[in-house]
Amino acid sequence: MAFIRTSRHLLHPDSGFTLPEHEVTPRGVYEDRRSLLKGLAGAASLAATGLLSHGEAHAQANNPSPSGLAPRPGKLAALPATRSTVPGAQAIDKLTPYSDVTTYNNFYEFGTGKSDPAVNAHTLKPRPWTLVVDGEVNKPQRLGLDDLLKLAPMEERIYRLRCVEGWSMVIPWVGYSLANLIKRAEPTGNAKYVEFVTLADAKQMPGVRSSVLDWPYVEGLRLDEAMHPLTLMAFGLYGEVLPNQNGAPLRLVVPWKYGFKSAKSIVRIRLIDKPNTPSWVKAAPQEYGYFSNVNPKVDHPRWSQATERRIGDGGFFTPKKPTLMFNGYEAQVGQLYAGMDLRKFF
Ligand code: MTE
Repeated sequence: MAFIRTSRHLLHPDSGFTLPEHEVTPRGVYEDRRSLLKGLAGAASLAATGLLSHGEAHAQANNPSPSGLAPRPGKLAALPATRSTVPGAQAIDKLTPYSDVTTYNNFYEFGTGKSDPAVNAHTLKPRPWTLVVDGEVNKPQRLGLDDLLKLAPMEERIYRLRCVEGWSMVIPWVGYSLANLIKRAEPTGNAKYVEFVTLADAKQMPGVRSSVLDWPYVEGLRLDEAMHPLTLMAFGLYGEVLPNQNGAPLRLVVPWKYGFKSAKSIVRIRLIDKPNTPSWVKAAPQEYGYFSNVNPKVDHPRWSQATERRIGDGGFFTPKKPTLMFNGYEAQVGQLYAGMDLRKFF
């Protein structure tokens, strides 16, 4: 079971693990995925020609996805936002094309292949949706999506997303600081940590019938991390509501941590006095830690974290980029970890 649980890494070419895909995947599935990936590779290299400015990338996003898998930009509801003034939310890197952001995903509730969520997540129903905020709070909340969308002004924030597998993207998210939501519930003095619980409905999510993870997918943050202005409750990307495969209708984005901390399709936020056990820590405690801050000096037990491959940036022959401490957000979040041994507290 441990073998299957870590299969996302075994299947990923950047993981440094050399087992060929056809040895860990049933033949039919493997061949299907190969032909799908061929189409995606073409789309990605087309989209990656030249440097795009912010505006150009948005214009590009209005073209239909060449792969045909992503929802056509312009087809999802617009989610207007103003540019964020939160320090660190205006990354200068080139944006990852919409077609890559929405077809190269990790969302195991819809399968473990990178293109599975784009293919399968049409069964997710983002409306109606209810989010509960409870636990160590004075004012527990039960909020519908319309209330959540109105709770604070929507901001566009451009963040780097660094997956623990060694790839990264630059995504213009739309949302607001999670702190807005938590403050509304008035945490008690006992609230020290926050648990994020995501949807696990086999009727909508075929992947939860598999035992690849112990469902629901859960994550956790220390309360001060959750209250940091960069910690984003995201409702959209590229100016539109989130496509299902990116975690509709609301997800977390914690840009200085490995991508698995950014839980998708959240249904409950629980304030607690002790740390919970996040899904990947439970599945493979020898490989994943509670904090999981991006750190180029602390390697994954099976591969280096010193560099990363920027998705949509020219494919496997393009040199990898150096990974930055705290994913480039050290100036904003470094003080949260003052005095901590970052090797010990992975
Ligand atoms: N959230 C849920 N519910 N299920 C998942 O499998 N995968 C995580 C994270 N959130 C995951 C999840 C991982 S490993 C990553 S890297 C990011 O989502 C990927 O987000 P993206 O597909 O929007 O790039």
